[in-house]
Amino acid sequence: MGMGGRIQAISGPTVTVDLKGLKLYERVYVGNAMLTGEVVRLEKEKAVIQIYEDTRGLAVGEPVKGVGMPLTVRLGPGLLGGMFDGLQRPLERLRQDMGPFITGGKEVYALDYMKRWKFTPVLKAGEAPTMGTVIGTVDEGAFKHYIMCGNYSGVKVAHMRDGDISLDEPLGEYEDGREIPGCNEWPVRMARPYRRKFAPAEPLITGQRSIDFLFPLARGGTAIFPGGFGTGKTILEQSVAKFADVDIVVYVGCGERGNEMADMIAEFEELQDPWSKRPLRERTVLVVNTSNMPVAAREASIYTAVTMAEYYRDMGYHVLFLADSLSRWAEALREISASLEEMPGEEGYPTYLASRLSGFLERAGVVETMNGRIGSLSMILSVSPPGGDFTEPVTQACLRTTGAFLMLDTSLAHRRHYPAINWFQSYSLYAKEVAGHYREKVSAEWDEMLLRCRQLLQQEEALREVAEIVGAEGLQDTDRMLMRTAERIRTEFLQQNAYSDDAFSPPDRTLAIIKGIVNDHDRAMGKLKQGASLEEAV
Ligand SMILES: Nc1ncnc2c1ncn2[C@@H]1O[C@H](COP(=O)(O)OP(=O)(O)O)[C@@H](O)[C@H]1O
Ligand SMILES: [Mg+2]
Repeated sequence: MGMGGRIQAISGPTVTVDLKGLKLYERVYVGNAMLTGEVVRLEKEKAVIQIYEDTRGLAVGEPVKGVGMPLTVRLGPGLLGGMFDGLQRPLERLRQDMGPFITGGKEVYALDYMKRWKFTPVLKAGEAPTMGTVIGTVDEGAFKHYIMCGNYSGVKVAHMRDGDISLDEPLGEYEDGREIPGCNEWPVRMARPYRRKFAPAEPLITGQRSIDFLFPLARGGTAIFPGGFGTGKTILEQSVAKFADVDIVVYVGCGERGNEMADMIAEFEELQDPWSKRPLRERTVLVVNTSNMPVAAREASIYTAVTMAEYYRDMGYHVLFLADSLSRWAEALREISASLEEMPGEEGYPTYLASRLSGFLERAGVVETMNGRIGSLSMILSVSPPGGDFTEPVTQACLRTTGAFLMLDTSLAHRRHYPAINWFQSYSLYAKEVAGHYREKVSAEWDEMLLRCRQLLQQEEALREVAEIVGAEGLQDTDRMLMRTAERIRTEFLQQNAYSDDAFSPPDRTLAIIKGIVNDHDRAMGKLKQGASLEEAV
């Protein structure tokens, strides 16, 4: 245990304490209520602490205690299917214990230490594990959970247990008498180590036609969905969380409405992962910090979540991290920065916003793990630019470091064209890398159809300007045919109703739809050229 001190001043979510010997980012218990906080600034005689819980009722003079460790998460079997707050407290168990009003200072472990697991050791007596070495496995739902060595040990194993275990028992002992734990802690702000990183090359299939076809994502890549209010960010994030072709999904509800998360949880209980046919909830970890929860925990929530995502990546799984919305995280950062009286940058955001964000986005990637497996961590973040203005600092900072930009368009959303992805202004830097996969695994026609689809949409755009001048009647039949086809591409192909059977479109279906439209177009154009009227041709 660290040393003790007292609160000197309180300013919103931050307090100043006269505690010496603290380290930057050390976890601290603040006040009689033992609220969790983290050291964010050190001065000669005092430290400034950001508190992750409601600071109402806190008074000057109350005690403060350093924990001697940074903010960490617990990593072990039992995270899948769980729902946690920004400090990784399990919300369902917390609610059972305390009712709907979660008060601060309550330590409830993320993992259930009573639950029994069937443990199969991999490590043998006489072997010396290092960081990331697989100690043994348990079955976590449909997943093999690889329990890994949590730190560098280098000491030989004296003996291993097997069979029925719970997490409060050791899995075995080292020759020096230390126990081998079934779960470990990891500081949330420190990326978990890996051996090597690779450039993303495999597609991340989302089941959304306008993404998979026009702006494909890659496993291990990063993408943002910026869009104004009501453009469909939440629906799109949730659709991707349901249908993405990955093993595990970590979803962060960050500063948005609580009822949206409640609906999502209810839906995930019922629905199946379309790829494995297992209940969706079993492959999902939820981190919830809705708009009614303390603002500072929101800042921590994305780190808590990404650390759990890395943990499953380290077992060799394909993990997808989604956050809705990153802007609420940035606003939390701004609020904390203001209460620290830091020099504000653009629009009041701290000057380190961009570097903080790029440091976070760097945790995505395809890696060779410490135990020689290949795992990936992909990130999709929604961004809510105020007034739909994409020149604002958060969107701009993301643009510089993300591989795909899917712009959600207010005018498309007004016309109820969903998902409202603007097909002229969005882009994906992964298109070239992943095209080969779609060509080989789906059809050799993928590229050709993509080219045709793009051309038709561009030709329509050019024609639209002409039509505005001469009127639709002034257009030739071939041009009117083209307008019709482009209209079909927009309504039958690019639009996808999230509340229908069409919510998930696997790649072969995606290709079949666009091919049908393009073939109909070619046939009609052929007839028009032979002198048929538009009505005869279609
Ligand atoms: N793919 C979709 N299919 C059908 N309706 C959609 C779709 N996407 C969005 N909507 C409609 O738009 C509304 C707003 O979407 P939402 O995701 O909550 O927007 P945002 O999170 O950007 O504010 C939804 O309640 C829904 O009615
Ligand atoms: Mg939303």
